[in-house]
Amino acid sequence: MAAEKTLRELFHDTLKDIYFAEKKILVALPKMAKAAQSQGLKAAFEKHEAETEEHVARLEKVFSEIDAPARGKTCDAIIGIIDEGQEVMKEFKGTPALDAGLLAAAQAVEHYEIARYGTLKTWARELGLDQAVKLLDATLAEEKKTDEALTKLAQSEVNQHAEAA
Ligand SMILES: [Fe+2]
Repeated sequence: MAAEKTLRELFHDTLKDIYFAEKKILVALPKMAKAAQSQGLKAAFEKHEAETEEHVARLEKVFSEIDAPARGKTCDAIIGIIDEGQEVMKEFKGTPALDAGLLAAAQAVEHYEIARYGTLKTWARELGLDQAVKLLDATLAEEKKTDEALTKLAQSEVNQHAEAA
């Protein structure tokens, strides 16, 4: 088997993984926005929900560049990360630490996505998928921005609020 074919298969497989993950995130984000107490955190989740819709659409374009149907493949990692977030929502409901927990869960999601998109972008470049490189890079940049915005929110208000009570 040619080395290039292996990488292409790996690329396709990982694309299915992140496609599944983005769709799960799209379902989780409105719930997190609803649960968040801080207006800033709520707004951050809502903004990222809109971006996530675009991430799904970009992935569909990448699938079409490799002539594959846009199909997800169960990603146990994202299911686990989102489940943990839901546990926090339940266990810390009505407490001042809820937002800090939600924010931490969202950052775990972002870090997972950043890892995946970084890898996919590198592979796309190696495979000569020029359009995919651009699409994956655009999403990667938004995931990083979201992560930074969450860090700022944690430092500026959410963590202090969790400690103050
Ligand atoms: Fe995303």
